[in-house]
Amino acid sequence: MVYLRRKVEFCASHRLYNAALSDEENLALYGRCANPSGHGHNYTLEVTIRGSMDPRSGMVMDLKELKQIIVEEIIEKVDHKNLNTDVDFLQGVIPTSENLVVCFWKILEKRLQGRCELYEVRLWETENNVVFYRGEPAEVVRHGAFSSPPTPHC
Ligand code: NI
Repeated sequence: MVYLRRKVEFCASHRLYNAALSDEENLALYGRCANPSGHGHNYTLEVTIRGSMDPRSGMVMDLKELKQIIVEEIIEKVDHKNLNTDVDFLQGVIPTSENLVVCFWKILEKRLQGRCELYEVRLWETENNVVFYRGEPAEVVRHGAFSSPPTPHC
């Protein structure tokens, strides 16, 4: 089994808030990320696949092809966009990096099915903050009331 990773960058804006909460609650939960005017990030997305090498080519997958899939499925939809309002697959989703990696995973996994195995989706929101997802069960969090008290932002 050999692993391949492709890195692609995009820029996008977002505002972290839950529409079911008051301004005060959102401020307590998200701090300045809840600023009503939003803010931007230069994101770095890293997608890792794994598989065995093609016995003819010595490649698991052509990285140019992987890049093309990432661009078509993700980058063209999120680059220079407002993640709260402009992206069809994020409608109603709170655009945290955690939610983004899970949503990106679902799209990429579907597209790569039968082609190779998706291993990890990793998203750098800043050079210090990275979130990654490897397909274990995870519920995407959408705007809405909590069934239990919200956990504080850590
Ligand atoms: Ni942010």
